[in-house]
Amino acid sequence: MLPNYQFPLNETALDDLYRRGKNAIPGGVCSSTRFNAAWGKPVYASWSKGSRFGDVAGREFIDMSMSHGATLLGHAHPSQEEVLRRSWEHGLMCSLDTPYHVALAEQICEVVPCAERVRFTNAGSEATLHALRLCRAASGRDKIIRFFGHFHGYHEFTFVGGHPPADQMHVQPPFRESAGIPKSLAELIIPVEYNDVAALEAVLKKHAHEAGTLLIEPIDFNRGCILPVPGFLEKAREMATAHNVILFFDEIQSFAKKAPGGAQEVYGVTPDICTIGKSLGAGWPLSAIAGKAELMDRFKPVGDVAHSGTFNAPLPCILGGLTFLEQIRSPEFWQTINSLGERLTAGLDEIAKRSPVPVRFQSHGSRFGIIFGTREPVINYTQSLCHDPNVMIEFCRQTTERGVYFHDYGGGACHHGYSLMHTPEEIDTVLGVMEDSLKAMGK
Ligand SMILES: Cc1ncc(COP(=O)(O)O)c(C=O)c1O
Repeated sequence: MLPNYQFPLNETALDDLYRRGKNAIPGGVCSSTRFNAAWGKPVYASWSKGSRFGDVAGREFIDMSMSHGATLLGHAHPSQEEVLRRSWEHGLMCSLDTPYHVALAEQICEVVPCAERVRFTNAGSEATLHALRLCRAASGRDKIIRFFGHFHGYHEFTFVGGHPPADQMHVQPPFRESAGIPKSLAELIIPVEYNDVAALEAVLKKHAHEAGTLLIEPIDFNRGCILPVPGFLEKAREMATAHNVILFFDEIQSFAKKAPGGAQEVYGVTPDICTIGKSLGAGWPLSAIAGKAELMDRFKPVGDVAHSGTFNAPLPCILGGLTFLEQIRSPEFWQTINSLGERLTAGLDEIAKRSPVPVRFQSHGSRFGIIFGTREPVINYTQSLCHDPNVMIEFCRQTTERGVYFHDYGGGACHHGYSLMHTPEEIDTVLGVMEDSLKAMGK
């Protein structure tokens, strides 16, 4: 029998849960960034539906994290009932492919410009890990050029040089973002400033003989939604081709945020390979590597690059993916997403002008970033260093007190957003709460 919990828990029971949590799980959380710095403890959730969730203490929030973008359709979107029923009928299959896998891969090839072949993974970090292995095999060069401020998952090849402190941006080997990452692997990573054509050209000239991959998060959601300046992605495409380097767009987050085909469709720049994920599974853990056939066919059993896993793409995740593709291929989905986005962005611009605390909002489709410490456009990591994590944490504390949940990312300038199931009235409530919170912080 599964345990049965009675909610809401009172403060003593909540403290006891956290105490037990810490005794059984490091920090009481199954993902390090789930610790809520604004509250000084984790959020323990009890339910979620549509645009909202509740915690075990009986509080209800309008959710502006939406599982970091994974539940873009909303929590418990009605389409997921059929996913559950079908999965059950088929026996919750795992470690076997089905016709649904083929159908989903075909549909991704239809909507994502660079996709001629698709391989599924669960986490986005698994997707970037295996895609980079493929790129190293295909290029025959081990080093990877990447950008400051971009994020590509938590593994040894990507958690290097992304978000260094100001005084460690140019150290060699690049700044390692976790203890335990070998120095020898960090030496394979070459970080460069985003949106800087001259810096990228210089790095390519110097390193293309040893670096076979140019890895880009085309919308830098993971540093407050830094957009590519006009022409930058086009230039990166040109330079990658000229230097015989594989252009890799990590679209785990930017996939289907403004158009079905991701940033590559929005900006009209086609990479050689990409990763997509987050909302792809409609809340189920599903990511994918998609790219040109000649590259992707390096994966075994056609080629010589290993990619396998007991839990790769179990049936419920694939069915979730099919429901997501159905949504993003319908004009109604984009009408709702875009009209909510217009309402939110217009409101954010007004709030930023009136805020007593300097703040900058930058958005792309259904997600946006919050960068404290400036009112000016932010186009690169160096400029974003004005962001003060303590101000962000205080902002999250203020908004959650008023019933709107922003994930605090330990204070980082990251990304937030709404879902298909948020209403225009909820967007107005969120804007009101944000403004009140900023006013309170300015006192
Ligand atoms: C651009 C990008 N790449 C990779 C990842 C890693 O994905 P996951 O958290 O599913 O491992 C993320 C997650 O935030 C991401 O935003």
